[in-house]
Amino acid sequence: MGVERALALKTDEALDWVPAANEFAEAVIEGLSSSPKTLPCRYFYDARGSELFEAITDLPEYYPTRTETAILAAHASDISDRVPDGAILVEFGSGSSRKTELLLAEMLDIAAYVPVDVSDTALAGAKQRLDARFPALHVHPILGSFNEEVIYPSDLQARPKVGFFPGSTIGNLTRPEATELLAGMARTLGPNGRLIIGVDLKKDAHTLVAAYNDAAGVTAAFNLNLLTRINRELRATFDLTQFRHEAVYNPREGRIEMYLVSERAQQVAIVGHTFSLAKGERIHTENSHKYTIEEFRTLAREAGWQPETVWTDEKSLFSVHELVQREPDLSFRSKPSY
Ligand code: SAH
Ligand code: AVI
Repeated sequence: MGVERALALKTDEALDWVPAANEFAEAVIEGLSSSPKTLPCRYFYDARGSELFEAITDLPEYYPTRTETAILAAHASDISDRVPDGAILVEFGSGSSRKTELLLAEMLDIAAYVPVDVSDTALAGAKQRLDARFPALHVHPILGSFNEEVIYPSDLQARPKVGFFPGSTIGNLTRPEATELLAGMARTLGPNGRLIIGVDLKKDAHTLVAAYNDAAGVTAAFNLNLLTRINRELRATFDLTQFRHEAVYNPREGRIEMYLVSERAQQVAIVGHTFSLAKGERIHTENSHKYTIEEFRTLAREAGWQPETVWTDEKSLFSVHELVQREPDLSFRSKPSY
């Protein structure tokens, strides 16, 4: 992220978090020191990464975005009814907010829309577009991680909250991480919170691999851009011509795994550290877990949510789930106290 950009955004309303360069350096060094080597996928989304992700969403092979968009369009008023007048809609990993626009068009009397994302450029672009389209809507972007507690401005704190987490971004977390994140969202959304969440469904491996290994090479560019970002922001020496993109389906884990494969034995310097890669050694950059509807409902229950409505498409490629806060189990209160 350019410093000027960050400052410009910081003077704008509510973009109040700038990811620390040392946090990025620590994550990269930790990932490349582990075996097998890994890099955290949340760092894909610098300005170029966010642009490349948008290009992925238009690819013929990448069915999730157009399928989820069609589900949301078909049920927009039903879904919008879940967000009462005066409530706030909090979106986690909002990116361009294009899908949300479909819902916002139906939510005429909400108190605010709060998109949360680590990409300053995605948030700024979305705010500009939404301000122009919905001048009466209060859009309050928060630049930060959805793993952290969301700090609401004081005038919004007491409002009922509905969460929106589309895109199957939940699939980028392992199951234990996903459970923890969903439990954290329950806290962020408060006692009567509700969450509308998009989840990609299990399907044949061929369709899945094609979606992450497109013929035009956009996903490869998205994956490799992580090395470009590390080179630029951490003054590293990755030679991009010596890495190739790989996407495989791991049926045991039910997930697509993305890697950057070293084409030769090589060394890379990053902020005072040197890492050696063998020929063919892989850096694991992303998981994208796929669920059955029942698997996801079970995971949601484990995180303390009660799954309710599920919307899906004709071919059962993708699902959108409504989760509500489970009543706390008060049964122990009926026991006599001594
Ligand atoms: N919701 C959009 C974008 C999905 S892409 C859609 O459905 O199309 C994933 C988005 O999550 C990106 O905009 C990325 O910047 C954001 N993101 C990834 N990790 C994040 C994190 N830990 N905290 C907040 N946002 C994150
Ligand atoms: C954001 N996330 C859900 C995307 C996915 O499908 O896992 C990111 C992505 N990676 C490669 N293509 C798209």
